[in-house]
Amino acid sequence: MKNIILTGFMGCGKTSVGRVLATRLGFRYLDLDEAIVQEAGVTIKEIFANQGEPAFRELESRVLGRVVAGNGLVVSTGGGAVLSSANRTLMRASGTIVNLTASVETIAARVSGDSERPLLQNDPSLERIRTMLEAREGCYADADLRIATDAKSIEAVADEIIRSVT
Ligand code: S3P
Repeated sequence: MKNIILTGFMGCGKTSVGRVLATRLGFRYLDLDEAIVQEAGVTIKEIFANQGEPAFRELESRVLGRVVAGNGLVVSTGGGAVLSSANRTLMRASGTIVNLTASVETIAARVSGDSERPLLQNDPSLERIRTMLEAREGCYADADLRIATDAKSIEAVADEIIRSVT
C-alpha cells in the first residue's frame, strides 16, 4: 500500500490530521520530527541552536529516506522537509503527497505562544510567516492534492483526504 505523506507550513495541522488519518485508514502513523528527535537524542530546538539549520536539514533528509521506505504509512513531515527537491522526489516515489494549507492569520494564531519552533521564535509576526510562505510556495505546490484547513475540523480534513485518495 502506498504511503500518504503530509506536507505544509508549521501550524497547518499535519500532525493532528496525520494521527486521525492513520487511525481511520488502519495505517501506521509516523511523525518525521519525532523520528529526528529520536535519532538525535535531543530536541529540534537544540539541534537548531547547537548545530544550526544545515545540520538539521541533513538529518531530516537522512531520516526521511529511512522513514518513507516503509509501506502503509501516514507520514507527517516538518514544514521545511519539502525545501529539498531530493526530499520531494523521495516523497513522490513513496506515495501520495498531500499538502495542507492555511492562511497567514490562521497559522499565526495556531503557532502563537509555541516556543518549540526555532524558525518562528525570534519573529512570529504575520510578515515573517507571509515571507516564508511565499518563498516556499513552489515547494508546497509540488503535491498530488492540496487542502485548505482553515475553519475545518481535523476530522473533516481527514475525511477530505480519504475521499480523494481511496
Ligand atoms: C520547520 C518546521 C518544524 C520543524 C522545524 C523546521 C520548518 O516542523 O521541522 O522546526 O522549516 O518549517 P512543523 O512543521 O511540524 O512545526
